[in-house]
Amino acid sequence: MNFWQQHQSDNIGKILLDENTIQQRVSELAKEITEDYVRMGADELVTVGILRGSVLFLSDLIRRIELPVDLDFMAVSSYGGSTTSSGEVRIMKDLSHRIQGRHVLIVEDIVDTGRTLQFLKNLLGTRQPASLKICTLLDKPSRRLVDMEADYVGFEVPDEFVVGYGLDFDDAWRQLPYIGVLKPEAYGK
Ligand code: IMP
Repeated sequence: MNFWQQHQSDNIGKILLDENTIQQRVSELAKEITEDYVRMGADELVTVGILRGSVLFLSDLIRRIELPVDLDFMAVSSYGGSTTSSGEVRIMKDLSHRIQGRHVLIVEDIVDTGRTLQFLKNLLGTRQPASLKICTLLDKPSRRLVDMEADYVGFEVPDEFVVGYGLDFDDAWRQLPYIGVLKPEAYGK
């Protein structure tokens, strides 16, 4: 085992979704999205990736969407971190492009409490897009605090903290091609 393999086996307790399973589902989502937007008469799509967790998912997804895509990003941060429930969301980076009259798809890594997406959906809705939908790789419905449903969901996951394929713990593990759960002792490191 090389260093990186050993590091994973020391820290990852189990694999929840392996690389093949993820890639197959991403292809299905891209097909569904393409068909829906073609049906809606869209001749292009603005994808709004939420930095940084959505990046791996987004890059795989857009390569399989068969429509012109304008790739844009937003970065937001929640006040007080994940343990407080203030629910306030602050914009760290806004869109680079105008979305008025355009079809917009927000792409997120995971819907947890739902607060981030509720905030973003309300905000982008005020800019009068032609349509506004949400695609999330993962959904943790058991954790929801606000009424928020994504239009496209890759997988429902149980109430466990997951890492990989874009998702981090303490800024690590985003690069994993699979989604896993850390061993309890890894949180202390
Ligand atoms: P929400 O506003 O509570 O829905 O927050 C969603 C954000 O919390 C996601 O974009 C992630 O950055 C983070 N998050 C929630 N659950 C997890 C997890 O299990 N692993 C990694 N990040 C998570």
